[in-house]
Amino acid sequence: MLDLRRPLEHGVMKEGSEKDQEAVQEILRYLIDLAGIKQKGKGKTKVRAVVGVPAEAFRVSRQNLRNTMEGIADSVMLVSEPFAVAYGLEALLHALVIDIGAGTADFCVMQGHYPTEADQRTLPNAGDSIDEQLEKLIRERHPDAQFSIHMIRQWKERWSFVGEPKDRVVVSAPFKGKVAELDITGEMRQACESILPPICETTIDLLSKVEPDFQDKVRNNVIIAGGSSLISGLTDAIQKSLLELGGGRAVGVKDPVFAGSDGSLAIARDASSADWEKLSL
Ligand SMILES: Nc1ncnc2c1ncn2[C@@H]1O[C@H](COP(=O)(O)OP(=O)(O)OP(=O)(O)O)[C@@H](O)[C@H]1O
Ligand SMILES: [Mg+2]
Repeated sequence: MLDLRRPLEHGVMKEGSEKDQEAVQEILRYLIDLAGIKQKGKGKTKVRAVVGVPAEAFRVSRQNLRNTMEGIADSVMLVSEPFAVAYGLEALLHALVIDIGAGTADFCVMQGHYPTEADQRTLPNAGDSIDEQLEKLIRERHPDAQFSIHMIRQWKERWSFVGEPKDRVVVSAPFKGKVAELDITGEMRQACESILPPICETTIDLLSKVEPDFQDKVRNNVIIAGGSSLISGLTDAIQKSLLELGGGRAVGVKDPVFAGSDGSLAIARDASSADWEKLSL
């Protein structure tokens, strides 16, 4: 009886479908409600929303986002996702932030000013692409196993890793209705490692474009956030790739899933009224 939707894709809303837009609005109303905010009638609270978008999706998705927020928030501010992470950590100078989420991996070099286009990059290699690969690899090896993309994501969030495996990854799934165990260690490693080459290549490319006086500082201040940064061994693997440039330091943030929203809240608190774009309600 349900019309199930997953309205986000590649880090932005799917465009052109009214149903998907409605689904996003439902999620937003639900979230605002969770925060205990009265959205209707007398005593309605004013809502100002900071929306994080992938570094490079900025121009294209702007209007679409604004239309969707209309009727939900009084005013909005769109910020680049990795910038929000940097702001929350007060890493505004000589830092490279890599935010590896579900739809995208976003990069942003912080050089003491609001990042320009040249300071930012977006890659489609993140959590969703790992899920798709893992699904494909397991289907190839176990064509009779029955599983959904949701099971795949749960397995990944529990056992994801890159590099040498510490343990075997054994999951259970039905085969023609009968539950059996399957060893997916190799598939898990291959799927998780698939995002490493593009991420390391982009890291090196961005670092090599930093002004020579500061390259050393930025190389030693690589900050990794986003849910997919929880993949075991990922931060070390990125740090290892910095050896190509003579070495550096990559660290994961304390709360990778919330670093972006914590930063957005800090931006909202510090903003002046001129920073907000008014919407018609
Ligand atoms: N322990 C974990 N190991 C591996 N992946 C994880 C883990 N926990 C969460 N993830 C993955 O992190 C992703 C969600 O991260 P996050 O919340 O940062 O994304 P998002 O901000 O919603 O997406 P985007 O930034 O692309 O718009 C999902 O793909 C999820 O499966
Ligand atoms: Mg994100």
